[in-house]
Amino acid sequence: PDRLPMGTHGPVDLGGGRPADHAQGQAANVADIRGPRGDGPVRRFTLTARHATVRGVAALTYDGTVPGPELRVTQGDVVEVTLRNADVAEGVTIHWHGYDVPNGEDGVAGVTQQAVRPGAEFTYRFLASRAGTYWYHSHQDSDAQVRAGLYGILIVDPAPPTGLDLALAYHNFGQEDVLGAPQLLGDRSGPESRPVPAGTPVRLRLVNTDAATHDFTLTGTAARVAAFDGTEVHGPTDVPDPVVTVPGGGRADLTFTMPDHPVLLDVGNAAEDLGLLLGTGPTPAHTAGTRVDPLNYGTPAATPFGRDSHFDRHFTLVLDERLGFYDGRFDTVYTVNGQTFPDIPAQQVRYGELVKFTIVNRSVESHPIHPHGHHVLVLSRDGRPATGSPVWLDTLDIREGQIWEVALKADNPGIWMDHCHNLRHAATGMMFHLAYT
Ligand code: C2O
Ligand code: CU
Repeated sequence: PDRLPMGTHGPVDLGGGRPADHAQGQAANVADIRGPRGDGPVRRFTLTARHATVRGVAALTYDGTVPGPELRVTQGDVVEVTLRNADVAEGVTIHWHGYDVPNGEDGVAGVTQQAVRPGAEFTYRFLASRAGTYWYHSHQDSDAQVRAGLYGILIVDPAPPTGLDLALAYHNFGQEDVLGAPQLLGDRSGPESRPVPAGTPVRLRLVNTDAATHDFTLTGTAARVAAFDGTEVHGPTDVPDPVVTVPGGGRADLTFTMPDHPVLLDVGNAAEDLGLLLGTGPTPAHTAGTRVDPLNYGTPAATPFGRDSHFDRHFTLVLDERLGFYDGRFDTVYTVNGQTFPDIPAQQVRYGELVKFTIVNRSVESHPIHPHGHHVLVLSRDGRPATGSPVWLDTLDIREGQIWEVALKADNPGIWMDHCHNLRHAATGMMFHLAYT
């Protein structure tokens, strides 16, 4: 029945079992794969999925806005989010993108839970153990629902933020004539601006919710890339006018001290005049900027495992595309080792193992590969070892022709959905399971 958890079939009925029943393996028990149920400081939220018109777009929303409410919690909190579905006929879920929650809280319809139908609710609980910038979105018919607006930003702060701490989603509704919502970069009416006093510490948290990879450019100041995919960079250094590339689903945090003149953040082609202007005065002229490559940025630091470790498992994933039938339609289909979901064999691992992946992109498009439940350490790209800060990612910007080596520690039991975060590619074949046995 769970042939297409992200496809277009609507809710998948797993036969009424508790989500935990489906992920129970030798190494796991139910308590391991659901979030904490004890006492402790709990931050409670309720999000209601519903149709709403946002800037003239017939959107699907959490609580009527796009993005949905920003969930900001403090590291150490237990987060409890009750999802209600008012009127989304296909059903909805919440997946905590990049947050390595217990499997039963992962929000994947057809794998870890049933989609929440209109009138029903589901409560997620997890410990906010790691700080950083994350996002949440529906994982039911994700290609359509995320684009339509069912997403929001999740921030876990190590301590209350100081200065200006701003999270921005770059979102594309996929409609030419649409302006986007006020919280979005991408307002074609020109840069949104806000006054920021000189000397203010600024942190910009950039979340790319689009299918495509985008470059974000900060003009008018030197800045640091403080984090990729929620994980702090070790020893980041100031870069003049940084350009940071964020794949679909990925995040980057930029930090700087506000200078006494304006700073412009824009995305993509500067000619489109998208962006956010901080400070008052003339908009700084766009420069070529300094491109930041995560694999050699920052300074090295120890990691629990690395290139020279002994790996218990090694999987090779060859990403490609071809014309074919998928879900009854003739289309470009996206393949892993020549197969499409659900025929791609699951990568089977055991709790505690070190697992290495070689990912080869033989297609002519990029594939932002997103493993659920685990951050992966990047070992190399195209044969060149990562040389800067350890790079822990949850969304891998695998460009055409590239070969990446990444590794993870199998420390989060369950059945995990991994896929390309160009969600159309996922909905036409490019997804697979990592399963603990
Ligand atoms: Cu951001 Cu499986 O998703
Ligand atoms: Cu893809």
